[in-house]
Amino acid sequence: MAYTVPKLTDYSEESLVAAAGEVVKQLNDESKAVTDEASWDAYRVRWTGRKNGITTQLNETWLKPAPGASKPRVGALYADLRSQIQRAVDEAKDRYRNVAILGDHARAKGLYPLDISLPGVRRTIGAEHPVMKTWREIVSVFQKLGYSVAEGPVVETDYYNFEALNFPPNHPARDTQDTLFIAGQQSKPQRERLLLRTHTSPVQIRTMEKMRPPIRIVIPGTVHRNDPPDASHSPMFHQIEGLAVDTNITFGDLKGTLDHAMKALFGSSVKTHFRPSFFPFTEPSAELYVTCFICGGSGKRGTDPCRPCKQTGWIEVLGCGMVDPNVFEFVKDNGYDPKKVSGFAFGMGVDRLALLKYGVDDIQLFFQGDVRFLQQFS
Ligand code: PHE
Repeated sequence: MAYTVPKLTDYSEESLVAAAGEVVKQLNDESKAVTDEASWDAYRVRWTGRKNGITTQLNETWLKPAPGASKPRVGALYADLRSQIQRAVDEAKDRYRNVAILGDHARAKGLYPLDISLPGVRRTIGAEHPVMKTWREIVSVFQKLGYSVAEGPVVETDYYNFEALNFPPNHPARDTQDTLFIAGQQSKPQRERLLLRTHTSPVQIRTMEKMRPPIRIVIPGTVHRNDPPDASHSPMFHQIEGLAVDTNITFGDLKGTLDHAMKALFGSSVKTHFRPSFFPFTEPSAELYVTCFICGGSGKRGTDPCRPCKQTGWIEVLGCGMVDPNVFEFVKDNGYDPKKVSGFAFGMGVDRLALLKYGVDDIQLFFQGDVRFLQQFS
């Protein structure tokens, strides 16, 4: 007997999933019977026909009578089934047509042809990865402020990653970067040795070598550190660097710009807070904290302690500071006389912000490619 949509009595997640699974099974089974236009048409009417197609039945017997509390879940299931049904009907059509055309050609020519005029197999379009989505959002906040986008190489020299950023050779500040070096370069002078860049800051220098001031740029990119993977570390991650250089740029400009950017990213009620820090290439340096957007700054979630901010109500989001005059010395000949220009720089971790933004508790999930995880962001 032909399948009809059963009434739902039990709205538990288990029964809903089982019932939806049965619909999909029927959908796929019946699609096997599609071999020509007539059988496809019957299939189409049965599943998508306005009057009493199964999609309509699902709406009438599942969605409409669903009790209030179960409505959102049944609604989501219904929407998902409806698009699966539509897709199955479309695919069944492509399939019987391809088979028919291929069959004709094959019979005529006695071989199995490649006909590039055939319609392609329809594939579902993927969704943007949460890290890339966050990356794009951050970049666009700064583009709206007039910043351009610059990029640089992931395999970098010691000179750009360290020396020109005021990390002198053998200076202990280099130890903070857990650098991955390319092997077998002992015979090269230190500044030419290659490494995987540990931050996007080398592109500050590369850009200032090419462009005279004033400049305002953001630099998104991949960076690597020798950190074993765990819930909050990954040997590969992403940063977005910013650099503004002009005459009379002050720490006030830095604060105003970053305060605006944080509000644009996390909502206008977010508060910012700067704490003194150290980076060799900025002076003074600071870390920027924002009020925890999970607990709103209270440090608590209901009666539980808020984990993302470790109950402090504040979350560190980036490092920043005024460009150190010693850095300008390396690009002085291109118009960056530290007596004439000043600037600020900042660098933020995209993955970390994506974790916070989406309430994900393990950074590894971003890089494992598990479709079940990624589908949740589509
Ligand atoms: N490059 C620094 C880091 O990776 C961040 C930073 C960028 C700090 C620019 C100050 C200015 O930790």
